[in-house]
Amino acid sequence: MTGKEKLAERTAQAEEIIKKYLPPAEGFQKTVLDAMDYSVNAGGKRLRPVMMRESYRMFGGSGEEIEPFMAAIEMIHTSSLIHDDLPCMDNDTLRRGKPTAWVKYGYDMAVLAGDGLMIYAFETAAKALAMGADPERTARCMGILAEKTGIYGMIGGQTVDVELTNQPIPREKLDFIYRLKTGALLEASMMIGAVLAGASEEEVKTVEKIASLVGVAFQIQDDILDVTSSAEVLGKPVLSDEKNNKTTYVTLEGLEKAKADEKEFSAQAAELLRSLRGDHEFLEELINMLTDRKH
Ligand code: IPE
Ligand code: IPE
Ligand code: MG
Ligand code: MG
Ligand code: MG
Repeated sequence: MTGKEKLAERTAQAEEIIKKYLPPAEGFQKTVLDAMDYSVNAGGKRLRPVMMRESYRMFGGSGEEIEPFMAAIEMIHTSSLIHDDLPCMDNDTLRRGKPTAWVKYGYDMAVLAGDGLMIYAFETAAKALAMGADPERTARCMGILAEKTGIYGMIGGQTVDVELTNQPIPREKLDFIYRLKTGALLEASMMIGAVLAGASEEEVKTVEKIASLVGVAFQIQDDILDVTSSAEVLGKPVLSDEKNNKTTYVTLEGLEKAKADEKEFSAQAAELLRSLRGDHEFLEELINMLTDRKH
């Protein structure tokens, strides 16, 4: 199988798992459940659950208890997108090829659907225990999930990102934003896979560093696509950053340097990956594929 075929296969598997863990849209709170379902099922690359499972496999994990965590990270990621698109944030109307949650369900339901997904993610992750996962490892993974989502992770990064809209940003602050708003959930993905499979402290630290580099490279490519792609291909509006007067890696360093640096960060991640035990051939291929992703 080629790297692309493997990715397609693993994405389809992640898709099934995510679906399995979504709550049924019924009861008096059906509207918010519909909105949650709509946003998750709209699609997406499912990169975070795929990377989580690869990291788990790399360290010898083979159980099903990774599945609730895979679903959980995609719920958290989707909740971040729902909130990111709100008029008070990036004010975007298209996501994953469909109208954004707030356009379709209104501001109130979009806020609640984001909250609902974020906390349902923890309810879901906790199901790993009933599947026989090691209690100590599971507890640690829940902690990682919370930390990387919260104020020292994605939410912290989004805070600085929106606060600095309309302002010039020094490179140091931009690095901080990217490491948190995008890097943190990728770090959580790979770290949880590693911890649940029983990786050592040192291995978990290396995995965190790898994911952080992948995250920054991923956000740089996101910025590049915002100015070079089309809404049809991306499934979200282009020139969103310009509209919001944002300093991005591209506005700060220029398109050519952004491309070169993205490749450099990815190469550093791949090199660190090769220092780890286990089969990491596909993960390395994936990191390389991400550098010239089109959406
Ligand atoms: C978009 O993430 C938001 C960023 C962190 C750049 P993805 O590009 O992974 O979005 P989906 O999940 O494929 O829709
Ligand atoms: C998003 O950054 C980071 C998140 C945590 C959602 P962007 O605002 O650039 O993401 P897109 O381009 O809207 O997907
Ligand atoms: Mg944003
Ligand atoms: Mg946005
Ligand atoms: Mg973007």
